[in-house]
Amino acid sequence: MKSIFKPLFTVAAASLLLASCGGPTDKKSSQGAIAGNAAEKVYVAPGEHDSHYAFISGGFSGQLAVYGLPSGRLFRVIPVFSQDPEKGYGYSEETKPMLMTSHGFIPWGDSHHPDISQTKGSVDGRWVFINENNTPRIARISLETFETEEIIEIPNSAGNHSSSFVTENSEYVVAGTRFSVPFPQKDMPISEMKGNFSGALSFLKIEPETGHMNISFQIKMPGFSYDLSHPGRGKSHGWFFFSTYNTEEANTLMEVNASQNDKDYIAAINWKKIEEYVANGGGKMVPAKYAHNTWDDNAHSATTVMEKEVLVVEPSEVPGAIYFLPTAKSPHGCDVDPTGEYIIGNGKLAASMTVHSFTKMIKAIEDKAFDGDAYGIPILKFDAINYGMLNQPGLGPLHTEFDTRGNAYTTFFISSEVVKWNVKDLKVLDRHPVYYSVGHLMIPGGNSQTPDDKYLVAMNKITKDRYLPTGPEVCQSAQLFDISGEKLELLLDFPTIGEPHYAAGIAADKIKSKSVKLYNLEENKHPYAIMSEAGAKVERKGNEVHISMSMIRSHFAPDNIEGVKVGDKVFFHVTNLEQDYDVPHGISMIGAQTSELLIMPGRTATFTWEPKQVGIWPFYCTDFCSALHQEMQGYVRVSPAGSNTPITFTLDDEVPGTEEEL
Ligand code: CUA
Repeated sequence: MKSIFKPLFTVAAASLLLASCGGPTDKKSSQGAIAGNAAEKVYVAPGEHDSHYAFISGGFSGQLAVYGLPSGRLFRVIPVFSQDPEKGYGYSEETKPMLMTSHGFIPWGDSHHPDISQTKGSVDGRWVFINENNTPRIARISLETFETEEIIEIPNSAGNHSSSFVTENSEYVVAGTRFSVPFPQKDMPISEMKGNFSGALSFLKIEPETGHMNISFQIKMPGFSYDLSHPGRGKSHGWFFFSTYNTEEANTLMEVNASQNDKDYIAAINWKKIEEYVANGGGKMVPAKYAHNTWDDNAHSATTVMEKEVLVVEPSEVPGAIYFLPTAKSPHGCDVDPTGEYIIGNGKLAASMTVHSFTKMIKAIEDKAFDGDAYGIPILKFDAINYGMLNQPGLGPLHTEFDTRGNAYTTFFISSEVVKWNVKDLKVLDRHPVYYSVGHLMIPGGNSQTPDDKYLVAMNKITKDRYLPTGPEVCQSAQLFDISGEKLELLLDFPTIGEPHYAAGIAADKIKSKSVKLYNLEENKHPYAIMSEAGAKVERKGNEVHISMSMIRSHFAPDNIEGVKVGDKVFFHVTNLEQDYDVPHGISMIGAQTSELLIMPGRTATFTWEPKQVGIWPFYCTDFCSALHQEMQGYVRVSPAGSNTPITFTLDDEVPGTEEEL
């Protein structure tokens, strides 16, 4: 113990951080803040569509939720990093490989920052990327199918927090380590962290046509914590900015020991320069083990490739590519305005916000205006790069987004508010309380040159009295503001799934016409797909029984199966023969140690069942698909182990496909 006062300080600091404005006494003012026509502004009449999609991270649920704005209606939860019995994701044989990692099958993840792909500096609605914080990964989700198509693990990283933001033409999506670790991992005393751990910043190339990701290079940075990041854009395109904390390189009691330095840094990375270096043979391939999981929409299946090496770049090898920008204490958000000129550090423990100028940064680099270095990386002189400070705008600034009119909107966790300010003038223009303790905020198109100037969504950690109570655990919540006028106008509260960590938004027009309605049966290349009921079959391979089954309103083919024995492993490979929009069927089997499957028209999916008991066991459709949904069912006869009941499979007492037209 270095000082007896430290624990006291800790308690005080903790209570300061926990204290949020608001609580029941604020209720009157919150209601008073609602303008009379707020309801009208969020009302989307029955049958009408919302104007925007909001993709809100599920945080510790590991998923991504799709909402409409301005209504706040939840449309769909896209399973990404966690198993989802509702969709059979991570339970079906086809989707299980999506959750493979170098640590084996991981059923859960902590999803954080969704970001939509961009073309020429605007969100294009092709894919949304999202990072996993706990077992570092980045996922890519198709905005045609709204399904997770690819997950790549990030090696040499831990706590993949400063991720997954994309550059203005979707050249790269980045990952950055929050916990620095030995690089490569090794057995060593934790107390020897300082100078011996590293922080990997990873740049993943995005293939322009398919969206496929590959780790292009990893930069082996000093062992700080890399918290958040944003790409340069416009004039600063080609650069990426990462906020850091724990430049102290402390390994214990971080809330005190990682807050000693008056300034931490924003790391400025000239990725164009590093890209060039790598293209000319720079960097070194080093062994690394990480999973790369890809979904194939033709085979209706995912595969895992365990990668074995990664290209590592040491900062010292590429002089002029990496600089540190001193920034007020322990910055959290690191945000770049739509013009690419202003780089904003949200110093969560500082009274002021730091605004750096890209133009000044370039000049400072040319002038070699350095203030020493950290592990060989030049530290630029604060005064040479700083545009100005926004002094005392609130308590605990976390994140900033922008409109196209030169305004910034910053969340303040401790004072529970969103503050609107003009970046150029460094003047606060408006402030509005939120309920309560806001983390991120989102303006559709926020990480781009062309944000929409209409809506702002604040994502709050604490809701207390805002909704009907549901026991000790209450929902976290989003709040919708209208930002089209001079003043922020609060329109709506809506609850979210998990923790609404961050979100990405986009005008609905950019997505809705491309949304896939069904899978073409003729293009289904799943090895067990069947094109009609005539293809149905049941085959025994040792103690495996493979059932190729179809589903169509309102029966399975076959629906009576005999010859299965205790000790068998039964594979239900089920094809939905429907070719109409919005006719999924489901299937579940009594005693199966997996979830039901919800199967879209034209798609094939598989679950396994290991019968433990002799008898006649039913399966049925889990999704209400027609007036005769309740009749959509079948039986499997399970005989004792070692018995010789022959395999038979029938529908209406015939082998499916051989009978008269049904
Ligand atoms: Cu098919 Cu219910």
